[in-house]
Amino acid sequence: MTESFDTMNTILVVDDDPYMFNVLADFMREAGYKVLLATRAETVFETIGRELPDIILLDINLPGITGFEIAARLKANRRTRGIPVIFMSARTDSKDKVRAFDLGAVDYITKPINLEEGAARINTHLTIRNLQKSLEDRNARLSREIAERKKVEEALRRSEEQIKASLTEKEVLLKEIHHRVKNNLQIINSLLNLQSRGIKDQESRDIFEKCKNRIDSIALVHEKLYQSEDLANVNFGEYVNTLAVRLFDAYSSRLPDVELKVNVESIYLQVNQAIPCALVINELVMNSIKHGFPTGKGGEIAIEIKLLDADKVSLSVADNGVGLPKDFKIDTPVTLGMQIINALIGQLHGTLEVDKSKGTKFIIDFPQKSDRDKKNEEERLLKSKH
Ligand SMILES: Nc1ncnc2c1ncn2[C@@H]1O[C@H](COP(=O)(O)OP(=O)(O)OP(=O)(O)O)[C@@H](O)[C@H]1O
Ligand SMILES: [Mg+2]
Repeated sequence: MTESFDTMNTILVVDDDPYMFNVLADFMREAGYKVLLATRAETVFETIGRELPDIILLDINLPGITGFEIAARLKANRRTRGIPVIFMSARTDSKDKVRAFDLGAVDYITKPINLEEGAARINTHLTIRNLQKSLEDRNARLSREIAERKKVEEALRRSEEQIKASLTEKEVLLKEIHHRVKNNLQIINSLLNLQSRGIKDQESRDIFEKCKNRIDSIALVHEKLYQSEDLANVNFGEYVNTLAVRLFDAYSSRLPDVELKVNVESIYLQVNQAIPCALVINELVMNSIKHGFPTGKGGEIAIEIKLLDADKVSLSVADNGVGLPKDFKIDTPVTLGMQIINALIGQLHGTLEVDKSKGTKFIIDFPQKSDRDKKNEEERLLKSKH
């Protein structure tokens, strides 16, 4: 007859007719409901104050205020607004029924009540009410979840902003450092310049000149770094281009008929590879400029840098000048330039090949380091410190 719910539903019967008390209440109790009774308005609100019923069966004609007024007060109160109200009355006038529904009633049962039918209606409204309640609960839970998620998203967004801000800060700092390193190297060069002014001996002046060139080529790496978006890697093709043109321009008066040819790919090198590589190029280009064309005869100096395969860089500096002296020993050099070149190629884990077939050509191949290699190296260094 009635659908049973997990928790026992409570019905509040408001009627001053003893029949309702005895017969209807007993019938509903037998059907599995808890029944509360009230005969007048005051008792209704007292009872509701103690325990909220799941449904209210409300008579219209009551001593004191009417069922309509009680319904209006129930609807006006946030706590009781949701309780379904069924009017039970002997009044059959449609006006009363319409008023009852206007006041928010869910049903209107005409007395005398058929108990079976009344119970079926009550059961239906309770089912609707219970479903409505569980929906409301679910909605409330969902709203809480949404609010919680919004909070988490907001926290995430804020921490993302913080990370971005600190990253930008670090980038600015790194740029600043590269800038300062470059400036400091330039200061060192200016000091060397001042110092060398008083030197009369040409050989000593040359030594100063070479030192300045080496320092300049390192300063240029830092300049390229703070000028680029990528602060950890240098576009080495671009670097070689700038360095070669600078060196060549500085000595062009000595080599009026020598042409510079630069053929470079856009290859990115980490700072720890870019610096040794830059110094090697500096030495080789300076050698071609200084030793390749001693007679003033014309020719060309060609610089190339390209990727051989995925991670291998090939660099060559060639000139079609006089060629290397007969006693030139590549593995056991006595001069500083070649010693520097050999040491730096070792740092790059590269190989050096000399082609003497046409002038002088130095070819250096070395593995391009990836970010992963860098991380491994950092970890290795960190472990070795502990
Ligand atoms: N491109 C070249 N063409 C002709 N001779 C060269 C060339 N490169 C090097 N040499 C010869 O090899 C020698 C060794 O070069 P290396 O760079 O080691 O010394 P350096 O240039 O004389 O002096 P530094 O130590 O300042 O570089 C040079 O002195 C020069 O005779
Ligand atoms: Mg040299």
